[in-house]
Amino acid sequence: MKKITIRNEQPADYRRVEEITRKAFWNLYAPGASEHYLVHTMRSHGDYIPELSFVIEREGEIVGSIHFTHAWVVTPAGDEVPIVHLGPVSITPELHRQGFGRKLITHAIASAKALGHRAIVLGGFTYHYHPYGFTGTKKWSITMPDGKFYTGIMMLPLFDGALDNVTGIIKLSGALYPDESGVEAFDASFPPMEKRVLPHQKEFERAAAEVDKDDLEGITYG
Ligand SMILES: CC(C)(COP(=O)(O)OP(=O)(O)OC[C@H]1O[C@@H](n2cnc3c(N)ncnc32)[C@H](O)[C@@H]1OP(=O)(O)O)[C@@H](O)C(=O)NCCC(=O)NCCS
Repeated sequence: MKKITIRNEQPADYRRVEEITRKAFWNLYAPGASEHYLVHTMRSHGDYIPELSFVIEREGEIVGSIHFTHAWVVTPAGDEVPIVHLGPVSITPELHRQGFGRKLITHAIASAKALGHRAIVLGGFTYHYHPYGFTGTKKWSITMPDGKFYTGIMMLPLFDGALDNVTGIIKLSGALYPDESGVEAFDASFPPMEKRVLPHQKEFERAAAEVDKDDLEGITYG
């Protein structure tokens, strides 16, 4: 049985974490990847939550990481209800589907809960996050800034009633939108990898744009 450890990320881990993030996301959603640059830049942003950044190790070797930033639901009255955003999360590709992601995500959810956070928001494939109880945000009438509900934008309340009477618009941190002009130079500091157009990238485009259309209309606030 291999020894698995989950611990907070330390500065000495940064490069290894970025290497794994790059490999895990490479050509996944688009040719190449920028998530390693995102992880690199977000750490120094004021909205980054270091106590919720974790690495998972197998026999002392880092094999994945998870990162969180502050986020908010802006209510119709203009109040900002604090929540947290999960992502990026990645596991080194050769170990996918062996339970490492589940261990890391479960640990991070429990930690966010223990730290008293209200809810977690994230964007991704439903099959990755429904197993943890994440659902679309329509049931709380919480929309994206364009007033729409997306099936790929999911939330998880962290205590009973956490989202009762919380309704409004999701506001994500600017930490998630770094200046993309830095990606290429940063990427060039890693070993070369081929950027490719692959069929599954279309699947991501489709999933990311899928609007949750059931019975409620999207809401917008002036
Ligand atoms: C997403 C990711 C972190 C999951 O880690 P993992 O170690 O491969 O996942 P696990 O083995 O712990 O899987 C946990 C559960 O998630 C679901 N799941 C994970 N990958 C899945 C896939 N490709 N298809 C369908 N369900 C999947 C399953 O329910 C799985 O449980 P099961 O294997 O018992 O059926 C990993 O695949 C990864 O790094 N992917 C590339 C980067 C990425 O997409 N990150 C998420 C961005 S939103």
